[in-house]
Amino acid sequence: MTTNKLNVIILAAGQGTRMKSSLPKVLHPLGGKPLLAHVIDATKSLNPAKLAVVYGHGGQQVRDTINDAKILWVEQTEQLGTGHAVNQAIPQIDEDSIVLVLYGDVPLINSGTLSDLVYQAGNDHLGLLTVHLDNPTGYGRIARDAHGKVKYIIEQKDANSEELKISESNTGILAVNGAKLKQWLSQLKNNNSQGEYYLTDIIAMAVSDKVDVKTTHPVGEEEVLGVNSRSQLAHLERHYQRQQAEMLMAQGVTIIDPGRIDIRGEVTVGRDITLDVNVVLEGKVSIADNVMIGANCVIRDSVIEAGVTIKPMCVIEEARVGKEAIIGPYSRLRPGADLAGGNHIGNFVEIKNSHIGLGSKVNHLTYIGDTDMGTGVNIGAGTITANYDGANKHRTIIGDNASTGSNSVLIAPVKVGKGATIGAGTILRKEAPAGELTLTVIKQKTVEGWKRPTKNK
Ligand code: UD1
Ligand code: CA
Repeated sequence: MTTNKLNVIILAAGQGTRMKSSLPKVLHPLGGKPLLAHVIDATKSLNPAKLAVVYGHGGQQVRDTINDAKILWVEQTEQLGTGHAVNQAIPQIDEDSIVLVLYGDVPLINSGTLSDLVYQAGNDHLGLLTVHLDNPTGYGRIARDAHGKVKYIIEQKDANSEELKISESNTGILAVNGAKLKQWLSQLKNNNSQGEYYLTDIIAMAVSDKVDVKTTHPVGEEEVLGVNSRSQLAHLERHYQRQQAEMLMAQGVTIIDPGRIDIRGEVTVGRDITLDVNVVLEGKVSIADNVMIGANCVIRDSVIEAGVTIKPMCVIEEARVGKEAIIGPYSRLRPGADLAGGNHIGNFVEIKNSHIGLGSKVNHLTYIGDTDMGTGVNIGAGTITANYDGANKHRTIIGDNASTGSNSVLIAPVKVGKGATIGAGTILRKEAPAGELTLTVIKQKTVEGWKRPTKNK
């Protein structure tokens, strides 16, 4: 890295008309995170002294969503071209810095590529990120002299037929000394086919000022692709997801189909984890060793401890699943579900804001909310904690080794003592004493001689 201080300018004023959206383009999510946030994050390891974002369309929404106190927000009220956009940020820029220009709609730019570019620029050169494209239509072309030195950039719409044959294309990303940039921008003219102030015109000015233009290249083409349409967004999303899958596999995770997994956040993993198809991981998810996650599970902001099995079709949010637990199929763990370990949580079971002690089982068709459950408890099918009286939530306490019969309703606040047994169909309104059988008795009767109705003729 260079010892010069770095200033970053991110251009994000574009309308994004082709997205056909009321959401500003740079706020569209990729991997669950706004496009602009990807670009900002890519600059973080470079430790910029200043970070300016040029915004226009949907400005307030962009500022509110990104909500980063370090950013210097610069408004560009009229979009008069990339050169004009950078010029709006110039009052914020240090003349003795290296200025790195980035684009808010080019999300997958790699921080290693950027530090290489900044290093090449140093204080005396202009660093330009270029790429050879099979189909460079629409891009500015890099014109070089007989010795291979960059002479200028010509935009597609201004290029002659010879220039249009050039495949080396301008990514738009560049790095150069702040004082020089300021001086060149002040000389820009808009006498071109689009009537815009082109940032790209500073290349020819650098050359005539004897500033060397040093080109560097991205590792992969997707790094420098912009998002102008939902189709391009989908392309980059798939590319990003493939990268995430490769990273997990490199850490010892088996992914049954790397084309059918979605990571929308930060995942930390142990080893020998298996992720079946259509697993979606959102926010901060940590998964320890020897965990198996079945098909079609969505897990957000949760901790999955070692040896856990999550069968297909589970939704887990802001929960902890303790060691060796078996969850699903069709379990829903909502915020505050805290499973100590060794638990069995079965089909059509919903758990919210509850501690479930070691080895306790909730196997079928049950709602457990606002509950403190001890160890070794068995909850019968169809047990419901009635935690809400219409105004307030109340807690249910279930002691170690208690057992509830099928179809019991525990009306909170209520306590089930240690080792208590609740009979099937009980409506529990008062404490069930430890060690005893408690049940509500509904008398069974048989109506003698009763006949089923028959159809009218
Ligand atoms: C620009 C480059 C072109 C390059 C291409 C790469 C210029 C003149 N041309 O062309 O050489 O190959 O990018 O994609 O620089 N923006 C503003 N304010 C403006 C104009 C643009 O903030 O007034 C922002 C846009 O939001 C966008 C970026 O700058 O993020 C690029 O603008 P765009 O109009 O897409 O540039 P191109 O014409 O594609
Ligand atoms: Ca343009």
